[in-house]
Formats: sequence, structure tokens, C-alpha cells
Amino acid sequence: MKNNLLTTGLNGLVGSHFALDFHNTYEFDNLDLRDKNQPIDITNYEQVLKRFQTSQATHVIHLAAFTDVTGAWQQTDDKNGLTYRVNVVGTENIVRAAEVTNKHIIYVSTAYVFDGEKKELYTEQDQPNPIEWYGKTKWLAEEAVKKSTAPTTILRIDQPFRSDQFEKIDTVHLIIKGIQEKILHPQFTNHFFGPTYVNDFSKVLDFVIRTKLTGLYHASSGESWSDFEFAKLINEALQLGGEIKEGDLDAYLAKSERPYQRNTAMDTTKLTKILDFKQKTIEEAIGEVEF
Ligand SMILES: NC(=O)c1ccc[n+]([C@@H]2O[C@H](COP(=O)([O-])OP(=O)(O)OC[C@H]3O[C@@H](n4cnc5c(N)ncnc54)[C@H](OP(=O)(O)O)[C@@H]3O)[C@@H](O)[C@H]2O)c1
Repeated sequence: MKNNLLTTGLNGLVGSHFALDFHNTYEFDNLDLRDKNQPIDITNYEQVLKRFQTSQATHVIHLAAFTDVTGAWQQTDDKNGLTYRVNVVGTENIVRAAEVTNKHIIYVSTAYVFDGEKKELYTEQDQPNPIEWYGKTKWLAEEAVKKSTAPTTILRIDQPFRSDQFEKIDTVHLIIKGIQEKILHPQFTNHFFGPTYVNDFSKVLDFVIRTKLTGLYHASSGESWSDFEFAKLINEALQLGGEIKEGDLDAYLAKSERPYQRNTAMDTTKLTKILDFKQKTIEEAIGEVEF
């Protein structure tokens, strides 16, 4: 028998892959803004609570967010803006409803809670210090989750990519498209991140539910890649035959108004030492990418 599972954001880049992978394990009950019959807006507490009260699920995976970082930056400090309302108020509503109905919250967060100034991998002990509005609202949401009296798990990811193609193009498929169409910008040699293979992250979500794991975990690949080396890997592994040019983040930042984290790669040891399956390396994952 399938277990009931409450979700938000199940139609998004990350959630829809989890839904594909685990449709035989879970009976999904998604709080879905797009649902024609019963649309649920997570910024509306009454709607959220009603759905939680009628669900048998023991867990809620909360993925819904305003994820357009540049769009979010244009709303900086605007508490009536969609970014704050979805990311902070929406999460507070999920937290309140989970407390009332005693459900375990699994909140998916981001490495953008960090300022990006650290030279090494970020660990769970590092203090967040967001430098733009999206990261700030996700950090405020993490705080709301942490304060909850319900059981909680926070999973931070960075630059998620999938093996298949999806309507919202991910970082790997964007690079593939850029190479194929010969429109790829020069790739920064001095910007670092920790790509997250969504196919494996789906298994992490299932692991957290199966083991009732609580706490804060970094759940990316645990690897650190510069944009340039990452694009080179994709070009070579998928035999795209393109030319990858070197770019300089400092030159870009001198012209850009939006702040940009220099490093968002995270240490994932805390999670990987307890996982009961082996995550793919980024090189193995890129080898699986369809295009
Ligand atoms: N993508 C990244 O680069 C990245 C990096 C790090 C962390 N994350 C985090 O990972 C999670 C999933 O990201 P994603 O890229 O899969 O997101 P996504 O593709 O942008 O999808 C976001 C989802 O949120 C839903 N949503 C937005 N506002 C809503 C509202 N008011 N009520 C109900 N649902 C609402 C959307 O519903 P509709 O489809 O109906 O619009 C959509 O399904 C997010 O929490 C994000 O912050 C993402």
C-alpha cells in the first residue's frame, strides 16, 4: 500500500522528478496552485490548514518557492512582494499547519543562505549571511522551520540538474543548449558551486521519510566545480565538440548590480555518512544526462 504524502511545489524542477521516481511508493497530495478544481495557494493559511487536516500523511515535503533570484532581487525588502509572501509567509503557514496536525516538515532550502565568501566547502556549522533577497527569504523560512514544535528536516541544495529534459531548463541543459547553439557565454573560472543531481536528491527525500531523519543537512553533491571546469566536463563527457571560453566573475560583478555569491559549494559529509545508498559523482551523473 502506498503512503500518503503531503507536498508543495511537486510540479517544479525538483519536485516533479521525485514524483516520477516515487509514484509507486507515495500517494501524493500536492498543495497545487495550478490545480483546476482545488487550487491551493500556500500564502493562504486557511487553505493550507484545511488540506493538512484532511490528510493522513505523516510528512510534508515543502518545495514550493519563488525561485527566480533576479526577480526576487527586484523585490528587495518588499514584504508584500511575491518572494517574501511565498517563501516566508508560505513557509510559516506550512509550519503552523504542521504543528496543529502533528506532521513532520521536510523543507528544501538553498546554499544561497551563505554570502559565498568562504574559500572552502560550507558546512552545517557555518553561519548563514544572505546577500540578496531570495537567499534572505529562504533563510527566514529556515528559521521559521527550525523554531517549529513539529519534527523538522532542512535540506540545502545548490544548482539542481536532472538527467532528463524539463520545461524549466536546469543548469546542465542550459550549458548543453549554449554549446549546441554556439551562444555559451565565457564561463567563470573564479565562481564555484556544488551541483545537485536531482535523481539522487529524490532518493534523499525518500531516505528522510523512511528513517524519520530530523535536523539540518547539506544535500548537494559535496563537490566543488568552477563554471568553466563544469562546462568543460559537460562538453567532453557528452562529446558536444564546443569551445568553452574562460570568463572572470570580478569583471562581471563590476558591471552587475545584483549581488552574486562567489562560492556555494557545500560539504555533505554529515548526510552521506548516514545515507543507505551511494550518490553518483558529478562525472557519473553527467554521463547519464539526456539531451
Ligand atoms: N532551482 C534551483 O536552482 C534551486 C537551488 C537551490 C534550492 N532550490 C529550492 O528547491 C525547491 C524547489 O525548487 P525548483 O527549482 O523545483 O522550483 P520551481 O521549479 O520554480 O517550482 C516552484 C514550485 O512552487 C510552486 N509555487 C510557487 N508559488 C506557490 C504558491 N503560492 N502556492 C503553492 N505553490 C506555489 C509552483 O507551483 P506552480 O507550478 O503551480 O506555479 C512550482 O511548482 C525550492 O524551495 C527552491 O528554493 C532550488
